[in-house]
Amino acid sequence: MPVLEVRNLVKHFTSGGGLLGGAKRVVRAVDDVSFTLSGNETLGVVGESGSGKSTLGFLALGLLSPTAGEIRFLGRPVNDLGDRENREFRRKAQIVFQNPFASLNPRMTVRDILDRVLKVHGLPSVSEDGEVVPSLLREVGLRPEHAGRYPHEFSGGQRQRIAIARALASGPELIVLDEPTSALDVSVQAQVLNLLQDLQRARGHSYLFISHNLAVIRHVSHRVVVMYLGKFMEMAPKERLYSAPLHPYTRALLASVPKPFVTDENIEDKVIAGDIPSPSAPPAGCRFNTRCPLRTPLCEEEEPEWKEVGKEHFVRCHRVDEWV
Ligand SMILES: Nc1ncnc2c1ncn2[C@@H]1O[C@H](COP(=O)(O)OP(=O)(O)OP(=O)(O)O)[C@@H](O)[C@H]1O
Ligand SMILES: [Mg+2]
Repeated sequence: MPVLEVRNLVKHFTSGGGLLGGAKRVVRAVDDVSFTLSGNETLGVVGESGSGKSTLGFLALGLLSPTAGEIRFLGRPVNDLGDRENREFRRKAQIVFQNPFASLNPRMTVRDILDRVLKVHGLPSVSEDGEVVPSLLREVGLRPEHAGRYPHEFSGGQRQRIAIARALASGPELIVLDEPTSALDVSVQAQVLNLLQDLQRARGHSYLFISHNLAVIRHVSHRVVVMYLGKFMEMAPKERLYSAPLHPYTRALLASVPKPFVTDENIEDKVIAGDIPSPSAPPAGCRFNTRCPLRTPLCEEEEPEWKEVGKEHFVRCHRVDEWV
């Protein structure tokens, strides 16, 4: 059974049009996306700023409610969980944010931070393998004797390890990682990414891994999805996406071949003609058409379908048949 099944998920944000007047604007942050995530799998979500990556992550965890569509977690629809099931969902679906400085309470010691998670979820502080907090710290590469320290006594990379330990404490099956290494130095990034992979191998949980860094996504993902203005444009197994990308947007992003290991290979560094359109007024037809070098008149009129062009390889482009 998949950990996560997402069907035709939509999230609109409305702004303006209130007492202060102004035109009402609707941002289609996530616009009809579908995917599944298996156990032990990492789906990398890559896209420019504002493409809807974080919104998708929050929806997957039930932290935002969808405008339309369905999310199933371990087979159960998350908008229809009983109390007990809901507690189970909260325990088994966790998140790690970009900024370990902001996400850890500065007035709590590491031991208190982790103990609190155990308490909230009604989990014992001692297991068959001994005390839980020291073993969590060891698992993320920190020294158990530092449990009495406060977050500011650790480096950025160590703080992110604490945030990872906090996510692991409840025994999750899904962890949403929202730019987990973007705030870290490149050398530290690699260590944290390797830790995340080791933890997955040992524990078998799944990651929804959000980043605008193509090299990071390549390093950690089994499959990758490329988002643009709330839509999935291409999704494929990692090797396939990086070696044989089909969507003109993906091809533009990958135009300079990513280096084999983690570097600052950010989407923002890529030169794609034209500015990203406003998410509240996306272009008609294909959303990428205003920046696409391969645009035809049809692309300005009709939204392309989400089409399966190979095993687990989906593309949203009118012209894809020409180069499959
Ligand atoms: N709470 C909100 N209210 C109104 N609009 C929102 C809200 N959250 C997100 N948006 C809008 O939805 C769109 C998608 O935002 P989101 O944060 O999901 O993008 P992102 O891909 O995570 O971007 P980034 O790479 O900058 O983190 C943006 O246009 C954003 O302004
Ligand atoms: Mg974001």
